Amino acid sequence: MSADPTSIRFDQAGTAVAPEAAPDAATHAENGRAPAASAVSVAQSAARVAIAPPAPPPPAVEPALGRGLDVGTANLLAVGENATGDLVVKRERNAFLEIPAEFVGNREMLTKLQVPYVNFKGRLFVLGDASFHLANMFGKDVRRPMSHGFLSPAEQDAIPMMRFIVHRLLGEPRAPDEPVCFCIPAASIDKDNDTVYHEGIVSGILRKLGYKPQPMNEAHAVVYSSLAEQDFTGIGVSCGGGMFNVCVAYKTIPALTFSVARGGDWIDDHVSRVMGVPRTRATAIKESGVHLMDPQSREEEAVVLYYRNLIQYVLQNLKQRFALARDVPQFEEPIEVVVAGGTSLIGGFVEVFAEELRKVDLPIPISGVRRADDALSSVVRGCLIAASLNT
Ligand SMILES: Nc1ncnc2c1ncn2[C@@H]1O[C@H](COP(=O)(O)OP(=O)(O)OP(=O)(O)O)[C@@H](O)[C@H]1O
Ligand SMILES: [Mg+2]
Repeated sequence: MSADPTSIRFDQAGTAVAPEAAPDAATHAENGRAPAASAVSVAQSAARVAIAPPAPPPPAVEPALGRGLDVGTANLLAVGENATGDLVVKRERNAFLEIPAEFVGNREMLTKLQVPYVNFKGRLFVLGDASFHLANMFGKDVRRPMSHGFLSPAEQDAIPMMRFIVHRLLGEPRAPDEPVCFCIPAASIDKDNDTVYHEGIVSGILRKLGYKPQPMNEAHAVVYSSLAEQDFTGIGVSCGGGMFNVCVAYKTIPALTFSVARGGDWIDDHVSRVMGVPRTRATAIKESGVHLMDPQSREEEAVVLYYRNLIQYVLQNLKQRFALARDVPQFEEPIEVVVAGGTSLIGGFVEVFAEELRKVDLPIPISGVRRADDALSSVVRGCLIAASLNT
């Protein structure tokens, strides 16, 4: 299996130079807040060096107001500060499952098994990750409130179920109208979706829970969390389950944003179809440690093929957007591309992205490609930074 570089820098001629080691998350406090991953790594290293006397706990402080919320097709994430000033990230799958009527009497069992469920209009629903595990166990499919980055028009129970999951993640506001910055996708270039409706419904859910909602473009959030050292200048790409979102930013200001309605789900659908395997099997293969530069089976080769096709599709569209856009700033210095999101986690992603980026020949100089630290929470941490700027 080849190594998985998390960062590839381009030299002046546009060829890749030696990959850099991943930056240490603990040294990258952004906007005065340490990323959540750093809290974990500090705790882990403390556990390993048990000989030293334990450090006194940091003094408890009033947690800063403001939260981040990543409203994703596959995952919902929330982040806030705890009493010791660390970031606490919580995640749930954006999915649910209705318990068949004959099991409705079994609530005690669900409580005993610590399965989160809600009673909604006389029906029982299991939420989040638990619904996924239960569905897999019974060979069923979960129901999903969103598809391709937006609320799914085909899912009748989407709005109440999302409200329940968001409530589980955020809890109660710590002050009336506590600000929550949440991400919304850019309009897709290849699907007719309604950003106004989606934004309005998520805002309504947050208001009902006692929060003050504040929307933010998803890929712009990647720029906030992962391009601080570059003066918030560069290209953020959020590679999700339902879509890829792209934001070209100059000193925090988004100059160009768009999304394509293809992401991890699109890869799963195609692999499932051409290999004749169930969709859940295709997802499991994709997430089981495939390396895009070193596929080990026919199924893995199919994963590689669709990944490369999707990256080419996104970059071709980025090039076209540059050609069509009027007010794109002139970048004199080369800018960096940061990729984030679950779909960027596969081995070899940064290498393939860099290869395709060199082929596409964008009209602006690019210094390299890097995977964001803790790529799954990059968007939600960016949202929190935006929320804290407005408190
Ligand atoms: N280790 C992994 N390798 C490959 N893919 C992965 C891995 N882990 C998660 N994924 C994929 O990442 C996707 C989910 O990513 P993410 O949580 O960023 O999406 P999302 O934010 O919910 O969706 P979107 O932004 O498109 O609305 C899924 O398609 C999942 O299969
Ligand atoms: Mg996302």
